[in-house]
Amino acid sequence: MNWVYIEDLKQHVGQEVTLQGWLYNRRSSGKIHFLLIRDGTGLCQCVASLADLGAESFAEADHLGQESSLAVTGVAREDRRAPGGIELTIKSWKLIGSAIDYPITPKEHGTAFLLDLRHLWVRSARQHAILRIRGEVESAARDFFHDRGFVSFDAPILTPTACEGTTNLFEIDYFGERKAYLTQSGQLYGEAGALAFGKVYCFGPTFRAEKSKTRRHLTEFWMVEPEVAYFTLAEDMQMAEDFVSHILVRVLERRQEELKVLERDVSRLEKAATKPFARITYDEAIERLHAKGLEVKWGDDLGADEETALSLDFDRPVMIHRYPAQCKAFYMKRDPARPEVALCVDMLAPEGYGEIIGGGQREDDYETLKNRILEHNLPLEPLNWYLDLRRYGSVPHAGFGMGIERAVSWICGIHHVREAIPFPRMMERIEP
Ligand code: 4AD
Ligand code: MG
Repeated sequence: MNWVYIEDLKQHVGQEVTLQGWLYNRRSSGKIHFLLIRDGTGLCQCVASLADLGAESFAEADHLGQESSLAVTGVAREDRRAPGGIELTIKSWKLIGSAIDYPITPKEHGTAFLLDLRHLWVRSARQHAILRIRGEVESAARDFFHDRGFVSFDAPILTPTACEGTTNLFEIDYFGERKAYLTQSGQLYGEAGALAFGKVYCFGPTFRAEKSKTRRHLTEFWMVEPEVAYFTLAEDMQMAEDFVSHILVRVLERRQEELKVLERDVSRLEKAATKPFARITYDEAIERLHAKGLEVKWGDDLGADEETALSLDFDRPVMIHRYPAQCKAFYMKRDPARPEVALCVDMLAPEGYGEIIGGGQREDDYETLKNRILEHNLPLEPLNWYLDLRRYGSVPHAGFGMGIERAVSWICGIHHVREAIPFPRMMERIEP
């Protein structure tokens, strides 16, 4: 058997090949059946005729249920009208696994219904396109850091303490002896890595027990987090800009087909990939928001509405830096020139997508950091190891975290982050 993937069919024109896949759709003119087969790499129209198959096999082909698994053998022929440009003239086919009454039909379904069937929904064309783009974003992210000499330094998921604050921690009973928490961010461990290797990144699942039911919030999401010793905020922002531009360029290079399925306006992504991105201070952001009639006080964190309003001003990502220290995490370094603001940055995606990156320069002074931990009512003891990083050869350092689902939602132009991950976890859903 000459098994080939649909994406490779072009190299097999005129040859007899076997496709192994699933029935995506079928139609019949009576004399000819058209079986649309998907194998995960593409779609191929396979043509069955009575003359080629014989009466029994031909009749059976007209009763196959959607998503039945099949092996189809036939000759690949060029046909410009066919999806993918190649058609298969079937010589024989074999049922591998039957599917009766597949619940997701080509008609419209509600999102709640589809989310209940997420394990099957991922077979659909749109979901396929989104998740392939997700895969591209992840591999582009890894390549960016790997090619620049960063060490991949994986952070633990079970942790003894909070990183981003205590209000949204998932608590776990650890052998009935103590509490543990699901990590909110690998950053603190990344800092240990940066002081060991100079430049590292971690990439893994992170958890937030936020009681927010918005289109931007998951309780489990994937974050990629670089951390670099001797970096200041300015260099961190430059890295964030280079990183996001690199990811966009890669997706535009390699995932045009998927962007087309999603009917994404690629000219917007092309524009967004162009450096430099905009940079504004938090103060300027507040002025812009006031000019738009939004009521925000200096000192408040920016919420989804404010982020959306700001990002609509720019055709590429905008980096907002130097937020009031009071609304940011304990580890943020203050600006020596202006201690009420932190040396931090959030990057907002254009088109109203809001924050995709948060990061900044870390407090590197032992006494200052220790006081911050106390001011934030965090326990000192489990953070003692983190303070060691300031006891033994502390240096300026900075990093950031990008949420993969936020970035993917923006790149795909989809409304809700729940479609940007294979199995979304939200406040109201942990199934399937
Ligand atoms: O801004 P955050 O909370 O920053 C950190 O966790 C830092 N420790 C990162 C660092 O400096 N190493 O989260 C970073 C990014 C956000 O910009 C957003 O893209 C994503 O993580 N994110 C979420 N994505 C989906 N659902 C949620 N609940 C998210 N919370 C944050
Ligand atoms: Mg943030």
